[in-house]
Amino acid sequence: MTPADVGAGGPGEGPVLVVDFGAQYAQLIARRVREAHVYSEIVPHSATADELRARQPAGIILSGGPKSVYDTPAPSVDPAIYDAGIPILGICYGAQLLTQQLGGEVARTGRGEYGRTRLTVTGPSLLFTDWPPETEVWMSHADAITSVPDGFVATASSPDAPVAGLGDPERAIYGVQFHPEVVHTERGRDLLERFLYDVCRCPPSWTHTSIIESQVEAIRAQVGEAPVLCALSGGVDSAVAAALVHKAIGDQLTCVYVDTGLMRATESEQVEETFRRQFHIDLVHVKAADRFFEALAGVTEPEEKRKIIGELFIRIFEEVARDLVIESSERSESSERVGIGAVGLSGAASDDGAVGYLVQGTLYPDVIESGSDSAATIKSHHNVGGLPDDLAFDLVEPLRLLFKDEVRAVGEELGLPPEIVWRHPFPGPGLAVRIIGEVTPERAAILRAADAIVVEEIRRAGLYRDLWQCFAVLPVVRTVGVMGDGRTYAYPVVIRAVNSDDAMTADWARLPYDLLERLSSRIINEVDGVNRVALDITSKPPGTIEWE
Ligand code: XMP
Repeated sequence: MTPADVGAGGPGEGPVLVVDFGAQYAQLIARRVREAHVYSEIVPHSATADELRARQPAGIILSGGPKSVYDTPAPSVDPAIYDAGIPILGICYGAQLLTQQLGGEVARTGRGEYGRTRLTVTGPSLLFTDWPPETEVWMSHADAITSVPDGFVATASSPDAPVAGLGDPERAIYGVQFHPEVVHTERGRDLLERFLYDVCRCPPSWTHTSIIESQVEAIRAQVGEAPVLCALSGGVDSAVAAALVHKAIGDQLTCVYVDTGLMRATESEQVEETFRRQFHIDLVHVKAADRFFEALAGVTEPEEKRKIIGELFIRIFEEVARDLVIESSERSESSERVGIGAVGLSGAASDDGAVGYLVQGTLYPDVIESGSDSAATIKSHHNVGGLPDDLAFDLVEPLRLLFKDEVRAVGEELGLPPEIVWRHPFPGPGLAVRIIGEVTPERAAILRAADAIVVEEIRRAGLYRDLWQCFAVLPVVRTVGVMGDGRTYAYPVVIRAVNSDDAMTADWARLPYDLLERLSSRIINEVDGVNRVALDITSKPPGTIEWE
């Protein structure tokens, strides 16, 4: 299903549009809507009522936002949407905005509410069906709604929000001061489901199976019989994208995995095992560690490392792509002679000279951040950046509508192993940005071994899935130690483990002491060249997750 397709059906079948007023609220709401199996999309608040109506939305959610309706300028929506006959739910700032725009009152009471708050249901509301008289909700507001617009009834209150819920069932417009998308709001999920199922009349049809089916169709329609290339990185996004494309077009897909020598332990074996042996995908495995180490010799500056790795990666990818073009054109010539009619890479060259299609694991948050629904640019920090002009590919982006949790679920549904589906994010330049100093094969081997112990012990402690990332860092300094009878002079290893929702911010993980003790003793005992283990207790901001 493409965004354009969603909305083409009957009542309740269009997307639910989440209007973004800034911060991260809109993304979380959109994710929650999808968890209720309803397709949602984020739209900027500058969209006009006509633009919104053109999408034939089943409903519109006005999200929270960091501003006050009294700020100048305060983000707003085209008030014509209130007369469009589309169900609307305003959340926090969204509720205040609709109150103000429809003639109610929002006051600067000077008494905000932040965090857990008791909510009292004061009037009947479809959204509060079967709620107890009191329940716990999550609040985050300074201003408060003090009187409702004509046609509305107040349906809830809290100690410092005289109107914490309001609704006009006639027009299907509702507002809540609290955040139903936050897990601390006890009945938050119920509320969203009531709005989606009972007010908007959306069927719960956005499932992982339906995502796969619709994407398979879309991929087939896009690429026809043309050849498709996919660069696998070992990470979840490219793996799921490849598996999805393979399901759609089978042998037309060739995957390229470049082992830079900077991968995590077992990554290369896992890619081989999964894609070649389990999925029978045509996999080109390029062992290029020597070339990367040679190119990185003497380089210590982080951005230079990234640039060198990115450029070399592209060069290697280009070499492979060209070889494939030549190889398959030869194959297709000979097969044509015997009448088999195989479709080769060059055989599919389109009028614009493209040799075929390239799969990209772009996710929905990247699409939103790029600010445009149609931006098909390759992320600059991505492995396959800036391909040469004469090797023009059209992009296939089967994950561009999906959030990370949906990508993982789709990956599981497609039969990818949990080790790949749940693997922590890993930067394109790999271990090179975790070796703080010059990258050498010896240091990469030390870091890979230490990193494998960190991951293994954290998995064993049952914490791997709870963490956003955990890994080892190798600062290129040496410290003095003593082991047995002798003095050592070796590297320290730093353990980095963080909790995060989206990598924009992160908190250092409070790992149990006994786990830290095991990590320390195993790393020092098992990894030659390391005599000290430290723990990074820096959050983001002010730190970044990676060290370089
Ligand atoms: P930082 O270090 O900026 O990282 O807090 C945020 C997230 O991005 C990942 N990261 C990268 N991913 N190429 C990538 O594909 C890169 O060059 C890169 N640098 C950082 C990092 O692992 C974290 O999840």
